[in-house]
Amino acid sequence: MAEVIWGLATSHVPSIGAAMDRGKTQEPYWKPLFDGYRPAREWLARHTPDVAIVIYNDHANGVDLDIVPTFGIGTADRYQVADEGFGRRPVPEVVGCPELSLHLLDRLMDEGFDLTVFQELDVDHGLTVPLSIWTPQPGESWPCPVVPLLVNVVMYPQPTAARCFALGQAIGRAIAGYDGVRTVGILGTGGMSHQLAGARAGFINPQFDRMFLDAIEDEPEKLAALTREDYIRGAGSEGIELIMWLVMRGAMRERVRRVHSTYHVPASNTAAALALYDNRPVAA
Ligand code: DHB
Ligand code: FE
Repeated sequence: MAEVIWGLATSHVPSIGAAMDRGKTQEPYWKPLFDGYRPAREWLARHTPDVAIVIYNDHANGVDLDIVPTFGIGTADRYQVADEGFGRRPVPEVVGCPELSLHLLDRLMDEGFDLTVFQELDVDHGLTVPLSIWTPQPGESWPCPVVPLLVNVVMYPQPTAARCFALGQAIGRAIAGYDGVRTVGILGTGGMSHQLAGARAGFINPQFDRMFLDAIEDEPEKLAALTREDYIRGAGSEGIELIMWLVMRGAMRERVRRVHSTYHVPASNTAAALALYDNRPVAA
């Protein structure tokens, strides 16, 4: 029986990855953001899981916009890093865990979540930047195999927050019924408030973000009850990425222990946050 040992929520701003790839993390603009990551990175380095599930969205890099599945799962042995127009990031390819992917696919289908299957997939900043935030110096390979789970947050109508939370709960049950590994880390990615285009381009809303950061810990149901319009109004048209944090949260226990959280404005156009939760029972 496998167990989710931690959940990591983090923004996926592409220029965070670029700052790391280009050695700029100690520059005045970036240093406060990266300093904020340090306690989480130290804890994570001591708690490497057997496998990680990354809840993320593609940004029309690995998947064309003419077909946008609401929910999808990668089932490949390995995933190439996408070329987003500047060449591939100089980070390792992502090793998959097809056996866990297929187990999740079976169980989630049985629970009514009809996932689209990606037998091949290039992974963009939505997945690789969170991996870099977790593991700044991966060397030849990331710390463990990864299952990519995709959520549409780029095309209307995005799935509801309630549906995302329910998906996470079903993932939690599926993991509890899996014998192939012992420990699982789950990442919820994207957010916090930001809007990249349109009349409100540059929109950031610390008040909404603070409310969300508080509630994701102890009152996720409150966040699951918000409509997609609530997310877009409160967090911006790209801030709706936050619904992916609810998938992560749904896969965890009712009570979790916050290891670390940090909030920094701005990283590029985004209010960037990281929140790390220990999901093991208190006695562990
Ligand atoms: C930015 C944020 C995103 O979530 C994204 O996908 C692309 C860019 C930004 O703030 O620049
Ligand atoms: Fe994004």
